[in-house]
Amino acid sequence: MADAVKIAALVKDFGNTRAIDNLSFSIAEGQVFGLLGPNGSGKSTLMKMMTGIIKPTSGSISIFNDDPQKNPIAVRRTIGYVPETPRLYDFLTAREYLDFIADVYGVPFDAKKERIAHFLEAFDLKGREDEMISGYSQGMRQKVAIAGALMHKPKLLIMDEPLNGLDPRSAKIVKDLLNKLATDGITVIFSTHVLEIAQAICNRVAIIYKGALLSEGNIGDLKQMAGMPGSSLEEVFLKLTGTDDVRAVVEELLR
Ligand SMILES: Nc1ncnc2c1ncn2[C@@H]1O[C@H](COP(=O)(O)OP(=O)(O)O)[C@@H](O)[C@H]1O
Ligand SMILES: [Mg+2]
Repeated sequence: MADAVKIAALVKDFGNTRAIDNLSFSIAEGQVFGLLGPNGSGKSTLMKMMTGIIKPTSGSISIFNDDPQKNPIAVRRTIGYVPETPRLYDFLTAREYLDFIADVYGVPFDAKKERIAHFLEAFDLKGREDEMISGYSQGMRQKVAIAGALMHKPKLLIMDEPLNGLDPRSAKIVKDLLNKLATDGITVIFSTHVLEIAQAICNRVAIIYKGALLSEGNIGDLKQMAGMPGSSLEEVFLKLTGTDDVRAVVEELLR
């Protein structure tokens, strides 16, 4: 399998803060890949560099062999991105929003109609699609944002903490969708600070701590390594604790 993402000696500084510290790893095509790490470890910064929104201080990142800084248009056509706090247009309906996004990406009319109908159904938004987004719950907004990011059929979907604020049922819908995307050969990268969520969803994970890579591999291997007393992974996992809200989501994901 080819690599969807290649990261080499990547560094990002914000003033005196080193947010990403000499990071190198690759993500193979077709994976559901988790970026795991406590808050402040650099997950969002890394994802923004993948999309080309922010520029690395040094090192390189490539998306299907394209540099997001040198070929921003090519890269943006290839990826779908759901930021940590998606900004939607409150005074559009879900249907209008998806229609608008599809037009921005130049999706042909028939494909657009078909995809909108498909996503409204798949994300359980049917019946509410002609109401304004301002009245939606956080979970509904998140699902609309994900549908928008998929509207142009990207080869790579990048989602920053996509399960935050999702109710268990919506979390399950998103999980099933990710599996379906992976089956279709789409690469999915998502970040989480909750170990159990990564475990329930991903085939591979990278653990990032203070901007550096602690470990990368199979989720099963990582859990075992993390349990070793005194290991830096153990320290990280101690910080990756879920709240009660998260418990219900995880239980639903594991069913
Ligand atoms: N725009 C910015 N300006 C200054 N510091 C930033 C900026 N974005 C992120 N940081 C810092 O970089 C580090 C990594 O942050 P972030 O990538 O948001 O972590 P995570 O998504 O894992 O919680 C943190 O120390 C954060 O304060
Ligand atoms: Mg973040």
